[in-house]
Amino acid sequence: MFENHKAPEADKILRVMKMFAEDTRADKIDLGVGVYRTPEGRTPVLAAVKQAEARLLESQETKGYVALAGDPGFHGAMRDLALGDAVAAGRVAGLATPGGTGAVRQAFELIRIARPEAVVHCSAPTWPNHESILDTLQMPWRSYRYYDAATGGVDRDGMLEDLSQVAAGDVVLLHGCCHNPTGADLAPEDWSAIAETLLKAGAVPMVDLAYQGFGLGLEEDVAGLRRLASAVPEMLLTISASKNFGLYRDRVGVLLAVAETPAVAAPVQDTMAWLNRQAYAFPPDHGARVVTEILGDAGLRALWEEELAGMCGRVRSMRVALAEALRAETGHAKFDFLLGHHGMFSRLPASPEQVAALREAHAVYMIGDGRINMAGLVPDNVAPAARAIAVVLE
Ligand code: LMR
Repeated sequence: MFENHKAPEADKILRVMKMFAEDTRADKIDLGVGVYRTPEGRTPVLAAVKQAEARLLESQETKGYVALAGDPGFHGAMRDLALGDAVAAGRVAGLATPGGTGAVRQAFELIRIARPEAVVHCSAPTWPNHESILDTLQMPWRSYRYYDAATGGVDRDGMLEDLSQVAAGDVVLLHGCCHNPTGADLAPEDWSAIAETLLKAGAVPMVDLAYQGFGLGLEEDVAGLRRLASAVPEMLLTISASKNFGLYRDRVGVLLAVAETPAVAAPVQDTMAWLNRQAYAFPPDHGARVVTEILGDAGLRALWEEELAGMCGRVRSMRVALAEALRAETGHAKFDFLLGHHGMFSRLPASPEQVAALREAHAVYMIGDGRINMAGLVPDNVAPAARAIAVVLE
């Protein structure tokens, strides 16, 4: 079976993770994979998570199966966090999944079942795994204009023009906030314009929300999503708790499918549970329960919000420090576009050769498309990172 087997190529994020791990230089700087790090370079377990886990350890009396779709209490907690009261709860089907990627995969599977001919439209660029999973499922997808490298912002007119030409029944994949890989987010009025455009086209939005709380704040980051959700009859929403709860390895995600009415949502809920059964039967529960415990307890929730604001603030301060250091290094403000971005990422206007030069000559690691993770910066490495970027990109 395996004599002629060739492994698929790892995606560009995983390739950078591997190269960084293998680099023995002491002063290497990791601006690659999108994980949060403290100034000491650790990805910490949040205190709110530790406390919730301690409570669970104390109170949990069974490890018996929960349900194919996971715990409805978890779906509800995540729905409230992301959607607030933008959509009536009865219209929302929920599915616990292994991480946000599991939710994306199950959302695509659901689209394939519900509307096999649908084309999924992804922003140009998008998280590489969106495209890779679609390819793996042999689902048709296309790109719509999104990032304007000349301004470092969103190509609003190009995007709306492309979305207006989407076929009825197609799916349009959007990033809820902290666009990955560019950091260029939609303004609230862009979300209203997208809602209008998709309604006219008869297309269904799918929103991937992996960084709620890492942009402008927990509520601010989903204001646009809520505008969209309250305007459209149907929507898919995939949520990750990896970053904002720091639960990366526990794999905590949820897929929410919004249907026009509760009666329409019911069979969708059953299909989603069936999809879990086909993939891994019951979804992981531990991390989902930790999240539910935190969100449902005023004290834990306040602690979590404080810790999340702290992580977000640190990333933001590194963003500002990098922009300032680049200004000092280059003597101009060309890199000030970084200040308009949200979340962990921004995309530098670097060619693949320049990315390679930064890696090889300066031990500064970023994704091949120029994506940098601000959480890899600490006060001590901002200046050398900026110097290297200035030397190679100028
Ligand atoms: C990233 O974009 O770096 C993260 O979402 C990690 C991953 O799985 O790609």
